[in-house]
Amino acid sequence: MCGIIGYIGEADAVPIIVEGLKRLEYRGYDSAGIAVYNSGAFGVVKRKGRIAELEASLENANIFGKLGIGHTRWATHGEPNDANSHPHLGEKSRIAVVHNGIIENYKEIKGWLQEKGVKFASQTDSEVVAQLCEHHYDGDLMQAVIKVANILEGSYALGIMCLDEPDILMAIKKDNPLIVGISDDGNFIASDVPAILPHTTKVHYLNDKEIAILTKDDVKFYNMDSETIHREAETITWTMEGAEKGGYPHFMLKEIMEQPRVIKETIKNTLMDGANKNAIDSLDISHFNKVVITACGSACYAGIVGKYVFERLCRISVEVEFASEFRYKDPIVDDKTLVIVVSQSGETADTIGAMREAKKRGATTFAIVNAVGSTIAREADFTAYTAAGPEIAVASTKAFSAQLVLLYILAIRFAQKLGKIDDIKTAELIDEINALPEKATQVLEHTDYIQKYAAGSINSKSVFFIGRNVDYAISFEGSLKLKEISYIHSEAYAGGELKHGTIALIEEGVLVVAISCCPSLYGKIFSNVEQVISRGARVLFVSTEDTKEDDKLSLIKLPPVHELFSPSLSVIVLQLFSYYVAANKGLDIDKPRNLAKSVTVE
Ligand code: G6P
Repeated sequence: MCGIIGYIGEADAVPIIVEGLKRLEYRGYDSAGIAVYNSGAFGVVKRKGRIAELEASLENANIFGKLGIGHTRWATHGEPNDANSHPHLGEKSRIAVVHNGIIENYKEIKGWLQEKGVKFASQTDSEVVAQLCEHHYDGDLMQAVIKVANILEGSYALGIMCLDEPDILMAIKKDNPLIVGISDDGNFIASDVPAILPHTTKVHYLNDKEIAILTKDDVKFYNMDSETIHREAETITWTMEGAEKGGYPHFMLKEIMEQPRVIKETIKNTLMDGANKNAIDSLDISHFNKVVITACGSACYAGIVGKYVFERLCRISVEVEFASEFRYKDPIVDDKTLVIVVSQSGETADTIGAMREAKKRGATTFAIVNAVGSTIAREADFTAYTAAGPEIAVASTKAFSAQLVLLYILAIRFAQKLGKIDDIKTAELIDEINALPEKATQVLEHTDYIQKYAAGSINSKSVFFIGRNVDYAISFEGSLKLKEISYIHSEAYAGGELKHGTIALIEEGVLVVAISCCPSLYGKIFSNVEQVISRGARVLFVSTEDTKEDDKLSLIKLPPVHELFSPSLSVIVLQLFSYYVAANKGLDIDKPRNLAKSVTVE
């Protein structure tokens, strides 16, 4: 939620910041703004709308400078308009601030400052940071920032500039991500790696309440007692190609197409010696009597598939909880519970909250994360990384697929350790996993039919995704993808449960997407298909079995696959279906309305 970037160096900060903001736009796109220092003043341009609007305004603005900060906003406090856009300035325009997060005590701070006669220019919570910094500034920006940080409640990642100290860019964070990038051509702060990837792969991940002071050729870190902290930079392995569209019309399509490679890499990284294998091998699974998987959005739906696979292979009970529910439900976890936390960004506020709650109660936490060095990756007891690379489209696809295969391998390894499967069975299952990239490629080679079917479905008012067992589990992700990017109402339902209520909504022309990759349940799900067809529905049948098509039933046949791992293939069909529905509706697929990719507020 909200993306921030800052630069200090020898080059003009404006194009660097604008390019960086474009790479952060997935974090919010209600408005954008930039401030640069030049000759004793800040040049500021802020615009409601996308970065493109800001860029257009900058053409006539004639601002430039070698120190600057920028922001792309996902509005929380105050409507999206120019005034509420960041950067915010103190009333004397001596301090400029960009903020990602929520200042929970902003009303008290604002009231206190207003009593002292300070005039505010926006309705945001963020403006209080700039005003308070300016109020406490006494010739030393770091001391002012420390004072302010001691007053602020809530979450923040802040980039701060001061007219009186134009040789430094300051940053501090609490409960929101912030990285510091270092290069020979200047130094950076950013919410996320892709923003600075064209300039550097050397980064520091700031910890809570750590201050970074950047100059054009140096970076220093301090704690809240003004003591120096020594830190080593990490080198990111993500590449620029991963963060570019590469000729595709949308990041989402590119990321769907990347899935065979991402699945293959994740399998390799998890089976071969390395950090993932170490994390899995180090865990004494026999110690636990319960497994909880907690996450948000798509990551949670990967967890639902994981539950089916774990329970079948390990014969251990698994609960799946949305992180936003888990953390506030007085969860029943203790030192005999393994809590698996799944997150692409590693920065989702609810998931971090759930993980901390689990740790507080004595549970062991195992994180499946995509973003290296993220908060969840650092704080979990054990971490295994998905190899999805940068995922830019708001709707998750390749990260989801990588999460699935990592969960499968985790389940196989745990089942083996628990003695629930012998070595022969383990080898068979691993062979099935190793075959997934090639099978995923086969699914992606035949997109024409899905494209055509999607084009004929754009006027659907409501779509139901049904399945049984893992086919039901993957229905949640299919339904989420469709509603996220096409704005069509959809629901995921257990096939057998339809008759207990939801079937009342089936009428002439309603679309039902039925998934059938569990051979033993084919007859059961097909009965559900007949029930909805006889009530007027048309059905898109996604199955590993040959099935006769007619004017009501269209088949998308998948390659043969072990049923437990079939969600890795069926989900590709569901992703493509949603993508082409949204594309045919002419929607902004990579940045769907009201959403943000990394939700760092509650
Ligand atoms: C947001 C995104 C989803 C994502 C979810 C969890 O809602 O729009 O695509 O699945 O957050 O994000 P995480 O980074 O924790 O996987």
